[in-house]
Amino acid sequence: MNAIISDTEAVGIVLAAGQGSRMRSRIPKPLHSLAGRELIRYPIDVLEQWGVSRLMVVTSPDNGDAIVGVLGDRVSYAVQDSPDGTADAVACGLRALPEPPGLVIVLAGDTPLVRPESILGLVESHRVDPKRRMTILSSAGAYGPDLGHIKRTKCDSQDERGDLLAIEEAAERDEPDYGLVEVNTGVYCFDGPWLSQRIGAVPKSATGERYLTALAGMAVDASERVEAAPIALPDEAMGVNDREQLAAVGAVMRDRINRYWMSAGVTLVDPATTYIDLDVQIGQDSLIQPNTMLTGGTTIGEECEIGPNACIRDSSVGNRCRIVASTLEESRVDDDVEIGPYSHLRPGARIESGVHLGNYVEVKNSRVGSGTAAGHFCYLGDADIGDGVNVGAGTITCNYDGVDKHQTVIGRSAFIGSDTMLIAPVTVGEGAATGAGAVVTRDIPEGRRAVGVPARLLPQQQSGSD
Ligand code: UD1
Ligand code: MG
Repeated sequence: MNAIISDTEAVGIVLAAGQGSRMRSRIPKPLHSLAGRELIRYPIDVLEQWGVSRLMVVTSPDNGDAIVGVLGDRVSYAVQDSPDGTADAVACGLRALPEPPGLVIVLAGDTPLVRPESILGLVESHRVDPKRRMTILSSAGAYGPDLGHIKRTKCDSQDERGDLLAIEEAAERDEPDYGLVEVNTGVYCFDGPWLSQRIGAVPKSATGERYLTALAGMAVDASERVEAAPIALPDEAMGVNDREQLAAVGAVMRDRINRYWMSAGVTLVDPATTYIDLDVQIGQDSLIQPNTMLTGGTTIGEECEIGPNACIRDSSVGNRCRIVASTLEESRVDDDVEIGPYSHLRPGARIESGVHLGNYVEVKNSRVGSGTAAGHFCYLGDADIGDGVNVGAGTITCNYDGVDKHQTVIGRSAFIGSDTMLIAPVTVGEGAATGAGAVVTRDIPEGRRAVGVPARLLPQQQSGSD
């Protein structure tokens, strides 16, 4: 961890107590997911990355438990009893601190595109001037009809910025402004003692909320130092207030992630239809075909070909695997495996190296041993299948008796004939075989062959001649 901002005085306050009413959701806004992480995790991750370890998250009585469920004891919490505005939320966070802070970095819980380097830039810019009371992370030339706009004095020269006068909120504008302006990203750095002293004086706005942004105008009126530090990329200012913005922010994040992987040596045939969550890992020279989703904590090895039309969630895939038009969930796939099209690995599937799973193969909570092939139409559930087994077309492990689930064990090098029903619990011994259409209700010893319904063992001397 890089501890550049880690002076013990620095405190990060993350605001997450708003109603989020524009989301029209039963799920609290900070818990909506973006590239596989809850929105609230983004500001926390960014602050922790720079070594800010004193973190205070301001929650509401409604979303507090859910946020604690995501962040646990990584942070401290303050509850804002009613959503009386961002100034009230910060005041609430400050009150809950055990000691007064020297430097306060405020982030909103709904601006996940702010990059770590921008936070560092903000703090560095703030520290340049020892008398600076408030530094606002702004985005010049941005589109933000619903955001706060930085107001400045007029300036004759185009190269210079005017002096900062105030931040004007959308609710304070007579007409919506659809032009390109300097917007407030909702990220700030404050002198701690000044903030603690002034926050109580923020007046109510016309909407009844107390806006944190009013502090800028208050500082200017009192001839105190306030400035805005511009952010590098305009899209960093994008906030999530409604579902449309969630999708727009998601598109920017996806683009960033896709560019990262291409720069790291992964081919994305069509980035526009490739969805990779933030916590995914992909090895060099893997090729991702269109319409592919790699989500959660998925890892893909090197030289794989994934897709088209693959959805892989919380799974690990080894090197040189090929997965076409299939869904994998909470599964492990070793090296040199071929899957699909149209197969489904459900939680607990463990596919060992060199396995071939072809069309319409469903595997759940099962090990499929090295070199085993199941080419067509199978259900393999609660099974332990050894190495080098041939699983014939239409094989089903009948694992559920209506009450309980039972295990099927298939020994190495066994041959399961097409359309075999294995009524679990049942064991097929090493090198044993079943005939096509067998309904196996009893264990088949090693090397023996069973046929029919219900399956009966063929005499030992006949094995190999059936
Ligand atoms: C806010 C800023 C705006 C800025 C924009 C950037 C204010 C008044 N306006 O507007 O200048 O351009 O962010 O995205 O600050 N919250 C609380 N308690 C409250 C109200 C809000 O904790 O009583 C939290 C919200 O959960 C949210 C954050 O504060 O995470 C910002 O609130 P939101 O209502 O989204 O403000 P914006 O309208 O986006
Ligand atoms: Mg917002």
